[in-house]
Order: sequence, then structure tokens, then C-alpha cells
Amino acid sequence: MIDIIKKYRLPDPVFVTQPTMPKLEDYHEYMKKIWQSRWLTNDGQFHQEFERRLKEYLGIEQLNLFVNGTIALLVALQALRINSGEVITTPFTFAATPHVLYWNNIKPVFCDIDAKTFNIDPSKIEGLIRPDTKAILAVHVYGNPCNVEAIQTIADRHGLNVIYDAAHAFGVKIGNESIMNYGDISAMSFHATKLFSSIEGGALVSKTQRQRTRIQFLRNFGIADAETVIGPGINGKMNEFQASFGLLELDLIEKEISDRRELVELYRERLARISGVSCLSDIEGVRHNYAYFPVLIDKDVFGTNRDGLFDILGECNIFPRKYFYPLCSTYPCYSALPSSSPENLPVATHVSEQVLCLPLYGQLEKEIVKTICDVIRKVHEQS
Ligand SMILES: Cc1ncc(COP(=O)(O)O)c(C=O)c1O
Repeated sequence: MIDIIKKYRLPDPVFVTQPTMPKLEDYHEYMKKIWQSRWLTNDGQFHQEFERRLKEYLGIEQLNLFVNGTIALLVALQALRINSGEVITTPFTFAATPHVLYWNNIKPVFCDIDAKTFNIDPSKIEGLIRPDTKAILAVHVYGNPCNVEAIQTIADRHGLNVIYDAAHAFGVKIGNESIMNYGDISAMSFHATKLFSSIEGGALVSKTQRQRTRIQFLRNFGIADAETVIGPGINGKMNEFQASFGLLELDLIEKEISDRRELVELYRERLARISGVSCLSDIEGVRHNYAYFPVLIDKDVFGTNRDGLFDILGECNIFPRKYFYPLCSTYPCYSALPSSSPENLPVATHVSEQVLCLPLYGQLEKEIVKTICDVIRKVHEQS
């Protein structure tokens, strides 16, 4: 493998992602206005404009902006008054998903995932429902839609709420419908590592004006007016600096998605010929956002395991990420739960041991994608 590293090592590190950045001069124009107004946070003019433009872009009705996606998700549960009992969720996700349950005094119940989409497997959900089950918290992993119809059918049959962690799913549509319009509430993240960013940031999409108003109170300490606090809220407000960054990013998002689509096509074409490497396919009728490019490495066919390939890529200055390894169910705070046993989660365990998210962002050069694929091919050939 030494010769692979010698031949293919890149001069500069290539990370799994890179944020799109607006032009500095454009951001500066917003800064000037913020300085003039001295209105830095609390529903400022750019906050209001960002909210309006996002609703328009995403095709949604009820939106609340947040300081980040985790607080948004935390508030989503409070908005639905889910603060005890159990919630069924996936272990194949980022730490924030089960942590918001824990912070709301809810026991996570981990459900296995579907081998094709890596999302929660609806056929496994009903077996986990108990009298104390309050909701299903599903994640559209990598922006690939969950089986929203099957999940809703189960939820309706058992009187459960459905919350979607849609942190990866910005801009995704099922047919002509925004993915954010499914379930009771969807939560987005606009973190710098996400497809669409406001530096840090997030949002909730809810169903009714009434819910939106409740979320607004919860996001701002429960304050209704200068002398009235109607309940125990939190501080989840987005500020004007985030909102103006987000406004500029909205002008870049379509190009970002189409640049990524081209890179994904190139990856798929180059990797198709390498045995032991498999990619997810696009789903018919879905408008994908190409937020991530996950591959599975099957050691028995590829010759080297995922971790071995990860190390060699690292030596070549290429830094993919093992999203999502380890599974959330293995964290010390959750590993003792009965649903965390690997026997309950065979697909999630298997996928988390094989998965690697390769670098993907609009500015990534095609030549670098070709080099990454060459390294993977050479490792296979020499294994
Ligand atoms: C699936 C998922 N849920 C929640 C979050 C939390 O979002 P944030 O970082 O904006 O708090 C992230 C990303 O960070 C995520 O990937």
C-alpha cells in the first residue's frame, strides 16, 4: 500500500465536506445594516426575511427559526407535550437525535433500520410499541426520505406523534411535496457542515398556526409580552448574523445541489466497477439533495475492511467520515437499554461497520473525486 500513498497522496487535506460561502462583500453589506440598526437578535428584519424566503423556497406554511437544530428538536418534543415515556427512534443517526429524548426525560427505544435506505424500518416499529410509547422520532438519513406513508399509518393506528429529524433533508421533495410537510413536526439543521448553512442554525416546520405560536413562546423563554411568561420556555432564538448568512446561502443552494449531483454521478460511475463497494441509488420520484455520499465496504469481497480503507485514505490526505459509527445505541448512556442490544439491531450494526461517507461538496474538483476512486480501486486490487 506504500506505493498507493506515494502515488496518490494529495498536497492539501480533503475533508468530508466544506461549507458554501457567500461573497464576503455581500455579507459585509448585511453587516453594515445590522450595525446601523443595532438590532442583533430577537426577530430582527433579516430573521423575518429569512423565514419568509425559506417558506417560499421549501414550499411550507408554518416555520420557526432556531439557533441550531438540536434546540429545535428539543423544542419540537415540548411543543407536542412529549416529556415522559418512550419514543421509538433509530440508532443510525447523529448523537443529537437520542440526546434530545434524554433531555426531555424520555427513554429512547432503538429500532433497526432498512437495509436499502438506512432509515428506520417501519416493519420493525410495531413490535416495539408499548403502553408508554408516545411517538416515533425518525431521521431522513443522508437526506433519503423515510417511508413516510408506512410510518404515518402505524402512528395513526396507535395514536402516536411522528417527529422527523430532517437535519440532512434540506430541499428534498417526494414528488412535488416538501419532505418537511410529513409527520407532526420536522426539524432542520443549518450547521456549517450541512448542505445548507446559516453558520449554526435550525428550524421547525409544524402543521398549524397554533403550533407555530406555541413553538414561538417555547423558543423565547415562554414570554408572551413584557409582563407575561406563560410557561417554561428556553432560549432558542436565531440571531441576525445567522439569518443574513442564511439569506445569502439561499441564492447558492440550487447550484450547490446541481454541482453535487454531478460529483455523485462521477463517483457512482467510477466506483461501479470496484467489487465490494456499494452505493445508494436515487429513489424514483424523489428530488434528492446529495447532502452526503455514503458507500458500504464489504470486506469479504473488497479485500480490506472499512477501517483499513479509511486509514489508507487518511494517509493520502483524504478524510472521509464513518457516519454513523459507532451507533448511538452503543454510547454508555444508552448501551444498557434492552433495545440497544446488537441482536435487536442487526442491520444497523452491519451498516455502521461498513459505511464510509466520501468527500462531497460543490467546490470539490472532479479530478480529486477521480483520485479518491483510484485510491479505492488500487486498495481493492492490492488486497
Ligand atoms: C441527524 C442530525 N440530527 C441533529 C443534528 C443537530 O443539528 P445541530 O448541529 O444544528 O444542532 C445533526 C447535525 O449536527 C444531525 O446530523
